[in-house]
Amino acid sequence: MKDWLRQLPKAELHLHIEGTLEPEQMFELAARNGVQLPFVDVGAVRAAYKFDDLQSFLDLYYQGMNVLHTENDFFELAMAYFQRAHADGVVHADISFDPQAHLTRGLDLATPFDGLTRAMQQAEQTIGMTSALIMSFLRDREAAEAAEVLEQARPWHDVIAAVGLDSAEQNNPPEKFTAVFERARALGIRRVAHAGEEGPAAYIRGALDALDACRIDHGVRCLEDPDLVAHLRESQMPLTVCPLSNVYLKVVDRLVDHPLPAMLDAGLNVSLNSDDPAYFGGGMQNNFLACHEAFGWDENIFRGLARNAVNAAFVTDARRAEILDAIDHC
Ligand code: ADE
Ligand code: ZN
Repeated sequence: MKDWLRQLPKAELHLHIEGTLEPEQMFELAARNGVQLPFVDVGAVRAAYKFDDLQSFLDLYYQGMNVLHTENDFFELAMAYFQRAHADGVVHADISFDPQAHLTRGLDLATPFDGLTRAMQQAEQTIGMTSALIMSFLRDREAAEAAEVLEQARPWHDVIAAVGLDSAEQNNPPEKFTAVFERARALGIRRVAHAGEEGPAAYIRGALDALDACRIDHGVRCLEDPDLVAHLRESQMPLTVCPLSNVYLKVVDRLVDHPLPAMLDAGLNVSLNSDDPAYFGGGMQNNFLACHEAFGWDENIFRGLARNAVNAAFVTDARRAEILDAIDHC
């Protein structure tokens, strides 16, 4: 099963590129850029990855990305992710990044955009891996700042597959961002949003109604609202679930307690994703394998999950058909 899962062609839809920064690369970039890290070695970094909740993770996540300074740093970060994901059988990735986390420490917008888009092109040319870029807004900052970033990103509007919404969910409801998401819609840019990770089911409703999101990141707390579950089933709204992330951030105590089997039983359109693989126990293969071990799922279930991801991915119709065909033949 382990080998079969690895070679199953997979699309990853919920991946924060800054969350792919492995401690080894963090030290390498810190040395190159003269950044003093509050850790003696990579072992100490990994030892610090014990989280109580989303906020305790976010504190380390924002601290870690301080080592990213140049266009080439972002390029190397993304290339390292693409290579690891490729080895996990990922053939397409919708990667998101947090521009405000870089602008607020003095970088300009071109630095992440240019580095990430160069890596995306190189990954397609060298390992045949396709990708799309999601520009996410930090929901714990002012909505006006997100609106400003969207305008500032004008030169890259045609390379943004979607805007997203992430960071600290509680007390930052989707409705706070209605205007900026409406502006993205007017610009013809798709919208996705984290909702129902730590926040209540009402935030999933809000992401659909106020933000017109075409995918929900996480969405695991939808089961608390049966009417919402019925709506999600009928609309087949894609939910990008991140099993190991939910364990690491204590959304659930153990993977066997995860609502994924109940979500599948309810007929929901679920995919499996790694969220922040450097912080949450690894990439797609580790997430798929952990689900096999926790739930005893067979090849058909994993094929279905892989198909759900491809059907919801930001790819051309031709590429979608190609990956679906590869899944059917494995
Ligand atoms: N940013 C990076 N990972 C995140 C997560 N799991 N939830 C919210 N914001 C994030
Ligand atoms: Zn996420």
